Amino acid sequence: MAAVTDGVILQVGGLHPTAERELATTYGAVRLPSGPERAAFLDERGADVTVAVTGAGMDAELIGALPRLAAVINLGVGYDSVDVAALKPRGIALSNTPDVLTDCVADLAVGGLIDVFRGLSASDRFVRRGEWAAGRKFPLQRRVSGARVGILGLGRIGRAIAHRLEAFGCTVAYHNRRRVDDVPYAYAATPVELAHDADAVIVVTPGGTGTQALVSAEVIAALGPDGYLVNVARGSVVDQDALVTALTTGALGGAALDVFTDEPRVPEELFALDNVVLLPHIGSATVETREAMAQLVLSNLERFLADGTLVTPVPL
Ligand code: 8YV
Repeated sequence: MAAVTDGVILQVGGLHPTAERELATTYGAVRLPSGPERAAFLDERGADVTVAVTGAGMDAELIGALPRLAAVINLGVGYDSVDVAALKPRGIALSNTPDVLTDCVADLAVGGLIDVFRGLSASDRFVRRGEWAAGRKFPLQRRVSGARVGILGLGRIGRAIAHRLEAFGCTVAYHNRRRVDDVPYAYAATPVELAHDADAVIVVTPGGTGTQALVSAEVIAALGPDGYLVNVARGSVVDQDALVTALTTGALGGAALDVFTDEPRVPEELFALDNVVLLPHIGSATVETREAMAQLVLSNLERFLADGTLVTPVPL
């Protein structure tokens, strides 16, 4: 592909400060206004935009308003908020930020698992409420070491989670679109089968239409009152209504959730439940990893402007 030597770089939504600074100073990027100025901006400048850098996604309407758009550079490994179907026919390239966040997301998944099994957040609240000081005992919780854990989606992050769980002596199984050859873990043919034989299921698939409500009411029922669900993927992968019902009725043992269907909205029914850990989508949110993600965004941009290719392209 040829270098992209002219055109405007558009910043869509907030990014990491390093990326925002570099975009503005080195590339003279302009930020897509929100609110009423947005339409006027797109009318005036939309036709000049050749590259969009986004941390907030791009819908078909926005992509359609940018007739010269040649690349979308996404901050995040998940790109379900970018309308890929609108990119494809126009041959618009897309990059994401894989690998650099694998360890942090895997750490958080295991942290969520330990929290919900052992009641870390709940016992912290117990102490702060003065219940320990008042002589009460925190109820016995569940053992992590040796637990049977099902991983839904054995990609890069799924493997990193499995690797960590091996150190805990856990029995790891997985379900994936395709069986993975080079791993020692048992393959479950369906998510229901995975859940049926597990003490916990960790959800780490990509989001988007292909995985919509993959964790259905049936999967949640297969986990049952002694089972736990950990979701560090996307809220869309889980039938959230079914999950809330199962948690509020005791049909599911507990959950650690970093993602929700309509962030930042979290179902209020969950607030009172001590067996549910609620996190504000912090899988990759460390100083080190967010900096690495910002650098990868900038490397993709630099490469695209230089020769029309991307460092970490998403195959469309
Ligand atoms: C970030 C994520 O919160 O990479 C992803 O797919 O979900 C997270 O790392 C998000 O991308 C920040 O924009």
